[in-house]
Amino acid sequence: MDLALELTCLILEREEGFAVIRLNRPAALNALNSTMMDELSAVIPALDADPAVHAIILTGSDKAFAAGADIKEMASKTFAEAVSEDFITRNWEAVTRCRTPVIAAVAGYALGGGCELAMMCDIILAADTARFSQPEITLGIPPGAGGTQRLPRAVGKAKAMEMILTARMIGAEEAERAGLVSRVVPADKLIEEAKAVAAKLAALPPVAVQLAKELVNAAYETPLAQGIKQERRTFHAAFATEDQKEGMTAFTEKRKPAFLGK
Ligand code: CAA
Repeated sequence: MDLALELTCLILEREEGFAVIRLNRPAALNALNSTMMDELSAVIPALDADPAVHAIILTGSDKAFAAGADIKEMASKTFAEAVSEDFITRNWEAVTRCRTPVIAAVAGYALGGGCELAMMCDIILAADTARFSQPEITLGIPPGAGGTQRLPRAVGKAKAMEMILTARMIGAEEAERAGLVSRVVPADKLIEEAKAVAAKLAALPPVAVQLAKELVNAAYETPLAQGIKQERRTFHAAFATEDQKEGMTAFTEKRKPAFLGK
């Protein structure tokens, strides 16, 4: 991957088959400012276009995944500026457009835009130190990066309403019980576990992984009958891939499959 951009708010590491993006503004608890979001908007599509990258881990520090959008940066914004800059939408949605699976590895605070950024990812792994909240209401605004839409879909209306209307913060265990995170791991094992998931994804047939991701996302955007139809057609289409033949032949021959991504 050739990234002309010099990264100032992110640390990018490459490993065999996957990449790790670390949000890196520790002094501001990884508050998501426009520079960081511009960098994320450049890095994510570049990784997504790289055929050697089969999974992306997005993580923060031990203390904060991200404590939300940068309040100091946006405090004086006017309505007209927010509209004309296309505030939030312009540079916040790269993760949602990424076709490669993205794993959020969350330790510490995931607040406001931090919680929303994690929810844009495909899998959320939480350290036992993780804390989730949508505290925007205390600042005089509703959530603005998908919180009012993705949180109810993840945890149901009652819990989402309480979190969004009262800014109640929940811990990792409650987040797991509510279905916001896929599982909780000890904080000192978080990156190791995220890398194990990424390595597992990298060993799987990439076309099938992308198709499956598309289908699960469709469940959030289409009526059931349409989603089922899309699933059925995609399932049928997968039989046209070499990896389907290899996967099923390897099973019958009792050997490990060698997937080609075709
Ligand atoms: N924006 C800008 N700076 C932030 C920040 C944010 N969201 N969160 C923390 N910081 C900064 C603090 O201002 C402080 O900087 P200084 O040392 O220069 O004063 C530094 O990070 C450390 O923070 P604290 O001293 O406050 O640390 P703490 O441990 O006492 O408290 C905290 C931690 C509870 C997370 C507290 O920092 C906090 O409440 N942060 C704000 C959380 C928030 O409201 N997030 C929502 C933002 S709005 C949003 O995200 C909109 C959207 O939907 C997109």
